[in-house]
Amino acid sequence: MRVVSGIQPTGNLHLGNYLGAIRNWVRMQDEMDADSECLFFLADLHAISMSHEPAELRRATLEMAAALVACGIDPDRSILFNQAQVPQHAELQWLLNGTARMGWLNRMTQWKDKAGKNREGASAALFTYPVLQAADVLLYQATHVPVGEDQKQHLELARDIAQKFNNDFATEDAPVFTLPDPYIPEDAARIMSLRDGTKKMSKSDPSDMSRINLTDTTDEMAQKVKKAKTDPEPLPSELAGLEGRAEALNLVTIFAALAGSNPQAVLAEYGGQGFGQFKPALAELLVSVLEPIRDRFVALKDDRESLDAILARGASQARELAGPTLDQAYTALGLVR
Ligand code: TYM
Repeated sequence: MRVVSGIQPTGNLHLGNYLGAIRNWVRMQDEMDADSECLFFLADLHAISMSHEPAELRRATLEMAAALVACGIDPDRSILFNQAQVPQHAELQWLLNGTARMGWLNRMTQWKDKAGKNREGASAALFTYPVLQAADVLLYQATHVPVGEDQKQHLELARDIAQKFNNDFATEDAPVFTLPDPYIPEDAARIMSLRDGTKKMSKSDPSDMSRINLTDTTDEMAQKVKKAKTDPEPLPSELAGLEGRAEALNLVTIFAALAGSNPQAVLAEYGGQGFGQFKPALAELLVSVLEPIRDRFVALKDDRESLDAILARGASQARELAGPTLDQAYTALGLVR
């Protein structure tokens, strides 16, 4: 097993990132056997596809590294690095640009959402972003890519690119790239905004009340849960009763994911109760899970020296692993180095 995944170091790590992806990263790391390897990275090269402040990106990259360690990523067991220190990512992206089709990229919903009506003014990097994401995983022959539901389409594209490259430039017995499988949690594939149950919880939502950040204080977390949008009905005892109640379903989903349970079991316990009773229980559970992570994060985030050392070591291991696949890709394309 080769597990590879990344997160953009923009904004704070939020509950959606944690339940949708990072918690699975930690689980996969913890269950790994001797023949497996986990690589987790900060997608700082992706972050320049939108307008950004260089000093802020630098700071956020180190902070996100601290957040991942606080969540349980152990740099002694997983390879933790930032893309910018591993130039093979950008190199392979260029090679894969020859294989990716404009039509494929045009269909990416994230491109459509982020470019909006201003496609002419969007950066070329935003358009080719999914090719870099394909390079990120193909470079290491990833077999499993733990992500939230919103990254599924990008992973399918990575498979398409790998398949076409193998077909065009390799033989069946000696493919250059492994086709990666997305690994999406059943229980928390898509955590929604606390203000609008039809929008995903996101770093880029202008309202901070829409998300729980890892950096929030205990009071902030409790306030956000208290103010989360709901409806006047009590919770039903069966899942079917949550149909058409997106916000209620989201809070039950979050509760279940945090408790390591499932929505049906949560409803069996809280069915018939109103949000006045359910929300304090949710807030308490949330704080019990996130508080220890936040405390570790606060203790680590300003330890610049340790964080730099972790990322430098990870990058050196990643560069070494990336070498052979990149060589094969150059050779397959007839590029002499
Ligand atoms: P990013 O930084 O937006 O999010 C990091 C991870 O968190 C998941 N996630 C969510 N899961 C459930 N509910 C939510 N509301 C939610 N919001 C975010 C994402 O699915 C993701 O797994 N393009 C990627 C980063 C990336 C990457 C890669 C991922 C770059 N290269 C290669 C995997 C493999 C991104 O912007 O994720």
